[in-house]
Amino acid sequence: MCDGCCCGTDRKHPGVDHAAIRERIDAAAVSAGGRSRVVGCVGACERSNVVIVRPAGISTDRVWVGGVLDDEIVDQLCDWIAADAVTPAPAAVAARVFSNGSTPPSVSVALSGLRS
Ligand code: FES
Repeated sequence: MCDGCCCGTDRKHPGVDHAAIRERIDAAAVSAGGRSRVVGCVGACERSNVVIVRPAGISTDRVWVGGVLDDEIVDQLCDWIAADAVTPAPAAVAARVFSNGSTPPSVSVALSGLRS
């Protein structure tokens, strides 16, 4: 999960409990046998908060999700991650998936499913 100059900040997203979102995403990743990382800006600030998901067993595909700010997206994202993120993304998640167009820096893999 990005936590850079925009994502995860009260300055850009006042009133959002960023710590709670990070905790929920981390718990979902761990329940799927994976892990989460908090990283610096991944270059998509216009989409903040950004979460990058690497589905379990798929080492090269990464799903970039923007606008992870409200309960609906966090609930669905966490459920999807907890289910290994290998099924089609739920509606709220799918609506916020975007293409970054470039490979992020090596540290930017925010969630890595390790169950494979
Ligand atoms: S701070 Fe998250 S994309 Fe820039």
